[in-house]
Amino acid sequence: MNGMCSVTCTMNNLLLWVILQGSLHTVEGVWPLPQTFTTSTVRYQLKPQSFHFGYRRESAAQRGCSVLDAAFKRYFTLIFPNGTAGNSKLHFSVDEPFTAEISVDHHDCEGYPKEDSSERYNLSVSAGRAFLSAETVWGALRGLETFSQLVYQDNVGSFFVNKTDIEDFPQFQYRGILLDTSRHYLPVQAILKTLDAMAYSKFNVFHWHIVDDPSFPYQSRTFPDLSGKGAFHPMTHIYRQSDVRSVISYARMRGIRVLPEFDSPGHTQSWGKGQSDLLTPCFRRGAPLGTFGPVNPALPSTYQFMASLFKEAASVFPDSYVHLGGDEVDLSCWSSNPSIRAFMQKMGFGVDFPKLETFYIEKLVNITSALNKTSVVWQEVFDNSVQHGSLSVVEVWKQGCYLCEVRRVAKAGLRVILASPWYLDLPGPTHNWARYYTVWPLAFKGTEEQKRLVIGGEVCLWGEYVDATNLAPRLWPRASAAAERLWSDEKQTSSVDRAFPRLQDFRCRLLRRGIPAEPLDVGHCRHEYQGV
Ligand SMILES: *[C@@H]1O[C@H](CO)[C@@H](O)[C@H](O)[C@H]1NC(C)=O
Repeated sequence: MNGMCSVTCTMNNLLLWVILQGSLHTVEGVWPLPQTFTTSTVRYQLKPQSFHFGYRRESAAQRGCSVLDAAFKRYFTLIFPNGTAGNSKLHFSVDEPFTAEISVDHHDCEGYPKEDSSERYNLSVSAGRAFLSAETVWGALRGLETFSQLVYQDNVGSFFVNKTDIEDFPQFQYRGILLDTSRHYLPVQAILKTLDAMAYSKFNVFHWHIVDDPSFPYQSRTFPDLSGKGAFHPMTHIYRQSDVRSVISYARMRGIRVLPEFDSPGHTQSWGKGQSDLLTPCFRRGAPLGTFGPVNPALPSTYQFMASLFKEAASVFPDSYVHLGGDEVDLSCWSSNPSIRAFMQKMGFGVDFPKLETFYIEKLVNITSALNKTSVVWQEVFDNSVQHGSLSVVEVWKQGCYLCEVRRVAKAGLRVILASPWYLDLPGPTHNWARYYTVWPLAFKGTEEQKRLVIGGEVCLWGEYVDATNLAPRLWPRASAAAERLWSDEKQTSSVDRAFPRLQDFRCRLLRRGIPAEPLDVGHCRHEYQGV
């Protein structure tokens, strides 16, 4: 037979190859995987000139809904990237119109996404139309993202979408990414680009670790010296109020909450430059060393300052959460300081310095709850406190048996955000995306009620070795592995092997959308990243 293989045979092989190549790009093209997803091989062609987004008549949100009107524009270009109209101009046929119709139950176009906002949506694609219904505009945004990922191109560049039915909702309500803008300054543009990519993976919280030891780039209205003296540069390496507003509004348009963190009492070296008497002077053998430790918890002026700062933060950041930090407090400086020791005696704390830390954090929690904010703290605050009465949300970050900690926090009746397995800045095999995928946040012994307290997880990209040059490749597509864990059904997404081609496909989509996501293995994308 082989000897007889002729031109026809080669042609057939070529045809088969073309078909296989084509189908490679349509492997269940949605990441993270929807909860229920039925698709068929019936496909409909889409053409940019005859494609429209529209509102259903019964929809509470109508034209003039800023969030959706802007999303329609964005998704049109994502669906039909940079003017690639396929070869449709070569045809003389009349184009069949295709309408993507949206219906939303609540008119929440002017509000902000909230901790309990529904992101549920239903999407059904049939001949000539896609119908997307959601309870909120935030759910509609998730559905638009899914719809955009269902569209694919064949080998001659024509656009298609298959007949599909999807019912979808997230497994966890909190799906965050932490960026650290203190160890390195991140230009606003890099933050906005990250928000774009977050929306592609359906992340919904941007945890802004805005200040820390190395620099204080947040330009405060009340305390301009904090950035004036504490930023890397007081004019160029700061976030002005207008920058912060544009980050918040850009995030809102993508259904993303902005959770600011003003970490204290540790991690505050930069604060001390612009606010005298805030930090604790460290001593040795009764004499001041000239160095400073954590925030001074013994002075009333500290709490007056914090009350003003958090009052400002509460008005600048609309989210109902605020992160108070509370991690890695260096207790040795506190214990070296005679006036802190005297304060400890007065308060009856003896030499129990974690008690002093608890005292401090409780004061801050009271300040923020008076401002109607829910405070989030790092796990040490929970570990150090005997009674957890004032705490609400604890972020678990330490390596080791993190599920043990998740269990302890949930047993205490507090909400948990899990970050430990998703420290993407840590050195380690960067190609090993699967370790971010095979994380099971609920795999601990506990009641249903305790498991419901695990509100989600967070990818942390600390900034020691990250700035705008490597931010995107370090995050993507590995953060997308965490995104699927936090959005999708655990049982349907338990296989690394089945996820791999889908994630590769999704990574190619990120490249197509201008996100320089790292390669996962040997291979190619039909549209390679073109550089800037
Ligand atoms: C979409 O339809 C095409 C051809 O009609 C088929 O090859 C492909 O597998 C389908 N994709 C999905 C996800 O069902």
